[in-house]
Amino acid sequence: MNWTVREESFDKNQITTNGNKYMTGNGYMGYRGTLEEFGKEQLSAVTLAGLYDRAGEKWREPVNAPNGLFTVISCNGQPLSVLDTEPVSHIQELDFRSAIHRRETVYRTPEGGTVTVTAERFASMDNLHLLLSKLTVSSTIDCRIDIETGIDGEVWDINGPHLFEKKEYAEGDVLISSAVSGELNVPVAVAEIADFGFGEQQIVDGLAIRKLLLDAKAGETYEWHKYVSVYTGLDGGKAPVDNAVEAVQAAAKLGYDELLAAHRKRWEDRWVGSDVIIEGDDEAQMALRYSIYQLLIIAPTESEKVSIPARGLSGQVYKGAVFWDTEMFMLPFFLHSDPSTARNLMMYRIHTLDGARRKAAEYGFLGAFYAWESQDTGDDACTLFNVNDVFTGRPMRTYFRDKQVHISADVVHGIWQYVQFTGDDSLLVDGGAEVIWECARFFYSYAFYNPVKKRYEILDVTGPDEYHERVNNNAFTNALVKESLEISLRTAELLKEKYPAEFEKLTAQFTDGPFLTEIGSMLESFYVPQPDEETLVIEQFDRYHTLEEVTLADLKSRVLNKNEYWGGGNGLATTTKILKQADVVLMMNLFKHSFSKEVKKANWEFYEPRTEHGSSLSPCIYALVAADIGSPDWGYPYFMRTATVDLTGESKQYVGDLYIGGTHPAANGGAWMAAVLGFAGVHFDGDTVHIKPSLPQKWEAVELPVVLRGGTYTLRISRGEVTITAAAGNSSALNFVVDGAEPQLCQPGVQLKLQTAGATV
Ligand code: BGC
Repeated sequence: MNWTVREESFDKNQITTNGNKYMTGNGYMGYRGTLEEFGKEQLSAVTLAGLYDRAGEKWREPVNAPNGLFTVISCNGQPLSVLDTEPVSHIQELDFRSAIHRRETVYRTPEGGTVTVTAERFASMDNLHLLLSKLTVSSTIDCRIDIETGIDGEVWDINGPHLFEKKEYAEGDVLISSAVSGELNVPVAVAEIADFGFGEQQIVDGLAIRKLLLDAKAGETYEWHKYVSVYTGLDGGKAPVDNAVEAVQAAAKLGYDELLAAHRKRWEDRWVGSDVIIEGDDEAQMALRYSIYQLLIIAPTESEKVSIPARGLSGQVYKGAVFWDTEMFMLPFFLHSDPSTARNLMMYRIHTLDGARRKAAEYGFLGAFYAWESQDTGDDACTLFNVNDVFTGRPMRTYFRDKQVHISADVVHGIWQYVQFTGDDSLLVDGGAEVIWECARFFYSYAFYNPVKKRYEILDVTGPDEYHERVNNNAFTNALVKESLEISLRTAELLKEKYPAEFEKLTAQFTDGPFLTEIGSMLESFYVPQPDEETLVIEQFDRYHTLEEVTLADLKSRVLNKNEYWGGGNGLATTTKILKQADVVLMMNLFKHSFSKEVKKANWEFYEPRTEHGSSLSPCIYALVAADIGSPDWGYPYFMRTATVDLTGESKQYVGDLYIGGTHPAANGGAWMAAVLGFAGVHFDGDTVHIKPSLPQKWEAVELPVVLRGGTYTLRISRGEVTITAAAGNSSALNFVVDGAEPQLCQPGVQLKLQTAGATV
């Protein structure tokens, strides 16, 4: 099976796209898929997770570290760079089984020979501070090779500069680049060692660059390694420079092969815990694995202070901010495959609660209003003018920050999913309960009691569909707020029963204001839009049905500038029924047990033709609901579109004049959800695993590992049969229900084969 993506020629126009597609990383840092000789103009970047900086009045964004893998080679004075010399052949490749990037480029020399340069690199999954590479050069003729390598201090920034007091120097054979971030004065250090066993080396004064001269003999291959370590002041322990020097020396001592072996082993383990096998569809298989790879390279396995930004670690786009994408689109993957990372993701929200409290207070509300774009402190990085109008060049007022209140409900949903799924209710005591209650209090203060209709409503919001801002009673938002209120009461019951002392302590802070009693009574008359009796369609928000009916094609024909924003004050879509992304249908996916198949089908059929899928968060939801209503083949194209988004590079690159390219972790998580929760039909309700296969025609079976309540299971789901294999080491049994049949208990070490309803006997 194919575990690689590959380019077999060099195309300048693909530099940016390939920078995303060939990404490597390890959750601590992301390394863009650029070539060794590239610099900031080609968007080379080592993006650090969780370190943010604001330069002047510009947008705050993550810090990129100096690039320690930078290398330029020349032969007889001719630079061997794809940017200067057209290569005879060029291969760029990503082995996503082991997260290794490779390139091989052959150049012709004026003397008639050819020189081949190869490079292999990885961001170690075994030691998250290390970047390692192995390079070779060989020539068919005798020639003079110059190698310039070290740490490139010219860093690519969108809203920089972020690094000050830069020092570039050498200590013995170690090159060092150190700096401090401008806003918070956090030190950043990169150290490098290169282990040439040939040539003459010289370190360039005042730069962290070494030059090497080599009289290369025809037919000989010269190989060397680069060891690079990256530390910041957020890592704790010693000063970052000392940490970096120590780490790089230790790495060089261990040697490349050993480091590679440890890295590979980690990746092997990661795949054992997360690989999803699709039988019968190689294309889907490759795309899904690649999507999982993208999630694995950005997962914060070792830190609960960071979460996953909307563009992963592929650069500074979207300010490196964390959106609802994490809870709603990525969390399910981690819950099923790596609960400890799922916990880290939720702890991040707990650590940023104070920022959410500040935001609520800023707007005059109680409790916690989470940041639409969250960084290290939880204060909102989202501006009031997030898009520029392409026609006037003027900033456009957008209501993402102040009106997308569903974010607080999404956070509650995520925490509750975690607790229900894993059974680990210690998260509630560790701050989760406080988050839940503060969000409920926020909604209590945000809601409007309609005295005529005698119900609580949620007015003036922006739902998931960002093209319709400031609407009333967005069905999705109301449904999620209702869920938050319910969760806050259930949390109170759970804590009272299991952790009474903590309950008393935690609730002491809420004695003065509205709390559980008020939330309870709000819930009794809380309004959530319901399906129309005749059409079964749920109106996306009050008066949506009065908007202009226009086809997507007609709306597109009105576009004057390909980058114009369809939402905002004058946006083309705002006066029409065209929506940006799944909204009502997303609600049907989240609460799938609350809606009949007929209602889901009616809403899918109504909203899909009106959905632009202008966000990569959209198609996977239509795939999920299509699978749920038993029409997987409707869903299949949406799944493929989601799973290939970072392979094809076919996604929106600009909104207004704002560059929004990069990788798409929400879509990566969405692809996983569509395959596993949708087509394979897996649903764990915290007690029983329900499996209702709904496989696309091409798929024969889906096989995957899952961690449920601390036990490990392998599920193989085909049209006719579900095989459940429980690991022998599991400490308890779990009930499985296939297609609504009687529950079957699966004991540790046992394999169950259960027939599906569609099985041909
Ligand atoms: C979508 C949001 C999403 C954000 C980041 C926007 O285009 O409309 O729902 O959270 O991108 O991915």
